Amino acid sequence: MTQTLTLLGIESSCDDTAAAVVRHVAGQAPQILSSVVEGQVALHAAFGGVVPEIAARAHAERLDHCVEAALQAAGVSLTDLDAVAVTAGPGLIGGVLSGVMLAKALSAASGLPLVGVNHLAGHALTPRLTDQMPFPYLMLLVSGGHCQFLIAHDAIRFERLGGTIDDAPGEAFDKTAKLLGLPQPGGPAVQAEAELGCARRFAFPRPLLDRPGCDMSFSGLKTALLRARDALVAEKGGITVQDRRDLCAGFQAAVADVLAEKSRRALETYLALAPQEPALAVAGGVAANTAIRARLTDLCAQMGARFLAPPLALCTDNAAMIAWAGIERFRAGERDDFSLVARPRWPLDPSAAPMIGHGKKGAKA
Ligand code: KG4
Ligand code: ZN
Repeated sequence: MTQTLTLLGIESSCDDTAAAVVRHVAGQAPQILSSVVEGQVALHAAFGGVVPEIAARAHAERLDHCVEAALQAAGVSLTDLDAVAVTAGPGLIGGVLSGVMLAKALSAASGLPLVGVNHLAGHALTPRLTDQMPFPYLMLLVSGGHCQFLIAHDAIRFERLGGTIDDAPGEAFDKTAKLLGLPQPGGPAVQAEAELGCARRFAFPRPLLDRPGCDMSFSGLKTALLRARDALVAEKGGITVQDRRDLCAGFQAAVADVLAEKSRRALETYLALAPQEPALAVAGGVAANTAIRARLTDLCAQMGARFLAPPLALCTDNAAMIAWAGIERFRAGERDDFSLVARPRWPLDPSAAPMIGHGKKGAKA
């Protein structure tokens, strides 16, 4: 086994243009030598969601700058690298294509091997980048574009236990914020309001809790919130500051209840494997929510599993996770060549039933 591997990672599947360099000495903790992320929030702000064409153009314009900045910050040049890892899907196709084309060009010019990475594998392998988490562990991805439970058996094999059948929770937070006149991204704004509200005033549904399994649904929650808001407007001509806080608190409690109960079921399935060091790890922007974190922390304590939430910068989209997933794949003997294609859809677990729905952040896997 090659003792030391240094990989460049490239990420451009949604609205963050990112490049990073990660080094791993076998048997030691990986080192993030650099991680550059250029967000596109300002470019999409006026449209209430990510506009794929704008995202693709911005990636194409900024990727080479990000790569240069990442190499410079890491103090390495192309000749110090062992391979180039790139997100090859799933995601918005124009952005994924920009990244894949750049990685192929770098590989062709330098002779470095190419490693195509599934963006979700990047998230799912982050607990090993940050905490050297041993396999198998349970992963909950909760962001604006993803929501699924995965058992990471090894660097290549992920078992999907369930996921959202429509919106991702982050998307529901963002839509809730929009309906209540709060700023984007909606998650932090809704959380701040919820902390001042009463969660019991509005009885919002807990979708799919009555059905077995780990699948979830969040789109009905947004409709329920819209109805509650409209009923208040019809009754008194508008909503008060306290109404808004109570609506946010009720909404957040419903999301937290659903995530906690479905996590309990996913943990039951996972714990039946008798893992030596049982753990539930989270990734994605929604993992920043303090109420949801508190519920998952309690649940893990009750069920005898470690709860791990990597630092937020590594929970949200970044290229260090892509470089790291590339290192794991490379060590497992996986390589790609110039036939590597950009894939809008690419389920991590090919045996799991495909999910329906397209979130505002693009196709879901
Ligand atoms: O992982 P992420 O940065 O991007 C992708 O979706 O790929 O996640 C962003 C999402 C947004 O929908 C945002 O509203 C949500 O994460 N979010 C939160 C919080 N902070 C960010 N949702 C709930 N509570 C938060 N504190
Ligand atoms: Zn992501």
